Amino acid sequence: MERDAARADDSGRRLRAPVSATDLAGGPIPGHVACVMDGNGRWAARRGLPRTEGHAAGEAALLDAVEGALELGIPWITMYAFSTENWRRPADEVRYLMGFNESLLMRRRDELHEKGVRIRFAGRRDWRVPKRVLRRMDESIDLTARNRRCTLTMAFNYGGRAEIVDAVRHLVDEGIGADKVTEKAIRSRLYFPDQPDPDLVIRTSGEHRISNFLLWQLAYSELVFDEVLWPDFRRTHLFEAVRHFQQRQRRFGGVQ
Ligand code: FPP
Repeated sequence: MERDAARADDSGRRLRAPVSATDLAGGPIPGHVACVMDGNGRWAARRGLPRTEGHAAGEAALLDAVEGALELGIPWITMYAFSTENWRRPADEVRYLMGFNESLLMRRRDELHEKGVRIRFAGRRDWRVPKRVLRRMDESIDLTARNRRCTLTMAFNYGGRAEIVDAVRHLVDEGIGADKVTEKAIRSRLYFPDQPDPDLVIRTSGEHRISNFLLWQLAYSELVFDEVLWPDFRRTHLFEAVRHFQQRQRRFGGVQ
C-alpha cells in the first residue's frame, strides 16, 4: 500500500512526497546495499563543465548516501568507484580519478571514522594504481578497522570477472582437486568472504546494466534503476530504492 501522499509540482505533475527513514520502519531493511555511481559525466556535460567536475560533485552524493545508510541502520554498503575497465577512459580522466580518490580519503576518512564506518577496498592492487593512492587506502583501512556500525567497501580497480578469476587462481595455487571445487570453495576465496551478498543494488543515471559489478554476489539481489544522475543522488533516493525493495517478493528460486 502506498503510504505517502501525492502532491503536484508547478506544472501540475503529480509528485510523491520524499520517502523518509520513518516511512520504512515497518518493513525489512536491506543488510547490504551496493551502488553503481553512474552519470557524473552527463551531469557535468549538461552544465558545460568538464567530466571531472561531475566526479567532484559526486562526492557529496556518496557522503549523503552513507549518511542515509547509517540512518536506516544498513550495516554494509558497497560503492563502485573505479572498474578494471575504467582504465580505458581518457588518460586525463584516469589521472584525475586516481588523485580524486586519494584526496577524498584524506578529506573524509576522519569523518567516516567518527561515525563508526569501517572502510575497505575491493579490487586488484596492481601496478597501475599509484603507490600514494594505495598508501591512503591502507591508512583508511587501518584507521577504521575496528568500526562495526557500517562497512563501506569501495570497489576500486574492481571487476566481477577479475574477482572470480582471482578466486580460481587461489584454488589452483592451493592444489584443490576438481571434486572439491564447490560454490562454497569459490565464495570463500572472493575478496571479502565475510561480506553478505547485496540485497539491493542501485544504479543511477537510467542505465540498466551491471557493468562487471559483483557478478558472483548479485545472483539474487534486487535491482533498482534510478534516472537521477549520481551527483544529484541524496539519501532520499536511497530511501526510495529501499521502499521498492520492501515491495519486492524474494524467492531465491523457490516458491512463495
Ligand atoms: C560502471 O559504469 C560505473 C562505475 C564503475 C562507477 C564509476 C564511478 C566513477 C568513476 C566516479 C566515482 C565517484 C566518486 C564520488 C568516488 P561504467 O561506465 O564503468 O560501465 P559502462 O561503460 O557499462 O557504462
